Amino acid sequence: MKIPRVGLGTFRLKGRDLNISLKSALKVGFRHIDTAQIYDNEGEIGKFLKQAQIPRQDLFLTTKVWTNHLSKEDLIPSLQESLERLQTSYVDLTLIHWPSPKNQVPLKETLTELLRAKNKGMTKAIGVSNFTTEQLREAVDLIGKEHILTNQIEIHPFLQNRKVSRLCQELGIQVTAYMPLAYGEVIQSKEISYIAKKHKLTNAEVSLSWLLDQGFVVIPSSTNEDHLRSNFNTGVGILDEEDQKIISELEKNYRIANPDFSPQWD
Ligand SMILES: NC(=O)c1ccc[n+]([C@@H]2O[C@H](COP(=O)([O-])OP(=O)(O)OC[C@H]3O[C@@H](n4cnc5c(N)ncnc54)[C@H](OP(=O)(O)O)[C@@H]3O)[C@@H](O)[C@H]2O)c1
Repeated sequence: MKIPRVGLGTFRLKGRDLNISLKSALKVGFRHIDTAQIYDNEGEIGKFLKQAQIPRQDLFLTTKVWTNHLSKEDLIPSLQESLERLQTSYVDLTLIHWPSPKNQVPLKETLTELLRAKNKGMTKAIGVSNFTTEQLREAVDLIGKEHILTNQIEIHPFLQNRKVSRLCQELGIQVTAYMPLAYGEVIQSKEISYIAKKHKLTNAEVSLSWLLDQGFVVIPSSTNEDHLRSNFNTGVGILDEEDQKIISELEKNYRIANPDFSPQWD
């Protein structure tokens, strides 16, 4: 199962902004939408998609189970509530949003429930997010790499996350790069502007193209139709060796999503 290469991020989007983003995104061609229980927008997304009358099989919907729903008692009921909010009988992908803080819920328990949800038809695939190499290895040991579709992690030119992405690729687990524009910060980068000018691209396109060239899925968010159109249509195979070298030197371990319950990062 392949995840559509470019998806729509919806973190922080609600109300009018969410509606504008969804409407423009669907118009320019997005069909892969990334949400999460904690974003508190599954209900609005469900309502919007129902009204938009896009055939369900044309959509790729991802949701993520929040850390308070990882136990045997909570996971399936909470996913059922997500499905109700999204007004669908299944999602395409369900992720563990963050590893259980302080290992309160054993990974085996959560993965077993996720597999049960998959067997019940509530989700086509399962995966993880914000997993370190150690946690990913543990997950693979517990259920096998064939059951883990993706590890969704922060990756952009300033946090390249090479160790985890390399392991994912060795294991054949797709990498989904979240915050692929460093929440807009790539737009300010002089080095990225240099590459953009050289190829007549925008800075956002340089960052997304660099990620797509590595075989990663990207899920940028935007409320601007022109941005969405260019994000969705970002080309691949444009950047040359000089560009790749310049970007590789932008790594500065600049992590934006780093809550106090984060795992011990690689
Ligand atoms: N798994 C996790 O723990 C996790 C954590 C964080 C995020 N995520 C996911 O990743 C998604 C993306 O992350 P993000 O939204 O935080 O950051 P992002 O996609 O890196 O950046 C979004 C920002 O970039 C701007 N932007 C987008 N396209 C642009 C373009 N073509 N040109 C110029 N500016 C552009 C947007 O402004 P405009 O609206 O003006 O375009 C917005 O301010 C989230 O929405 C969420 O779905 C997952």
